[in-house]
Amino acid sequence: MTVTSRTRVGIVGAGPAGLMLSVLLARRGIESVIVESRTREYCEARQRAGMLEAGTVAALRAAGVGKRLDAEGLEHDGIYLQFAGERQHVNFRELVGRTVTIYAQTEIVKDLIADRLAAGGVIEFSASSVAVSGIESAAPVLSYTDSAGVPHEVACDVIAGCDGFHGIARALVPGLSAYERTYPYAWLGILADAGPSTDELIYSRHPDGFALYSMRSPEVSRLYLQVPADESLDAWSDDRIWAELQKRFALPGWSVATGQITDKSITPMRSFVAGPMRHGRLFLAGDAAHIVPPCGAKGLNLAVGDAIVMASALSALLLDGSATLADAYSDTCLRRAWRATQFSYFMTSMTHVLPNDPFDDLAQLAQLRYVTSSPAAATSLAENYSGYESPKFES
Ligand code: FAD
Ligand code: DHB
Repeated sequence: MTVTSRTRVGIVGAGPAGLMLSVLLARRGIESVIVESRTREYCEARQRAGMLEAGTVAALRAAGVGKRLDAEGLEHDGIYLQFAGERQHVNFRELVGRTVTIYAQTEIVKDLIADRLAAGGVIEFSASSVAVSGIESAAPVLSYTDSAGVPHEVACDVIAGCDGFHGIARALVPGLSAYERTYPYAWLGILADAGPSTDELIYSRHPDGFALYSMRSPEVSRLYLQVPADESLDAWSDDRIWAELQKRFALPGWSVATGQITDKSITPMRSFVAGPMRHGRLFLAGDAAHIVPPCGAKGLNLAVGDAIVMASALSALLLDGSATLADAYSDTCLRRAWRATQFSYFMTSMTHVLPNDPFDDLAQLAQLRYVTSSPAAATSLAENYSGYESPKFES
């Protein structure tokens, strides 16, 4: 027997986009239901992003979920770019008056879930057969089967597709245009119980491939290596990973602090932008509509930004009956998504090595020298990295 219920906004996916949307809607008194195919434990443990733009930090604070972020986040003034045996600092605080903050996506997801559940919000974890219908009507329906096998139908005013790149929502938009670029490399990422031997992130271009030194806390490092696109994790023993990291970050008198590796994965790299991000009563947000290669740290920031724009648009639509922001939603989000897409492409192309391409090698080195010596070029990088045009939730 199908259980029927009603809410104002049905949200597919409990990632950063769906959770942030639900939190912001609740601040306006708008009820929502989140349906998520994974368990809560899985969502809270999925290792992904870690670098937050200044605007994302401000938005999490303004939404009332910044307490642990303020206590545990690591504020950085800029990043290091390493190439041809040099390590140069680009200081965002000096160049554009903004900083960035390391605070793991796992922690943001935990904070947002805790906030929703404490306020009596509904998140249906471990849902199956998730489907959306009636998006061209004023009463779309979100249906799913709960973890006990009971089928549900939730009547909604609006559905938010926040279900990531492999979700179901994007395919429901008729006449969708998608633009894509794939790259011939991937990132092997590790998490290690090792205090970072750097105060800020290092983006290193080495002739054997790119490497990124990031962190999660004063005790935990997060490191990435460029590997071929079709690489298998089996080819990378812990010893081989550390040796490759030492080589790609090498500077005289300095080394990468090593420790127990607690997580290891390979992520393919792709740029993908699809629009429009709205059809009828269905709105897409985050990775459901666009993904960027991780270099430049834009994905999570874009997902949170879309949620902010959508929350403002849905507040106006559902509380005031004004469709102006809802009608502008797709264009507003795609404009920012394309800026981030171009920046991520720029950061990736400047630092990742193609085999046997000496023209590209020399052009990359020229670009790296330019962004680390010209204040104009450094300012452009700083403005984009720390967050260009971050949206604000008008409350
Ligand atoms: P997701 O986080 O993918 O959430 C979607 C949710 O929907 C998931 O919980 C999924 O289980 C659920 N779902 C899927 N299908 C269904 C369905 N049919 N029914 C119900 N639920 C469903 N970004 C940054 O900004 N900074 C970084 O430093 C950074 N580093 C990264 C490093 C790596 C290695 C990777 C992989 C990504 C990184 N990103 C980074 C990108 C960032 O993690 C993503 O952009 C972000 O997770 C997008 O959030 P989202 O809510 O849109 O989607
Ligand atoms: C991290 C990931 C990135 O892609 C990046 O550019 C910076 C930081 C991270 O996981 O910490």
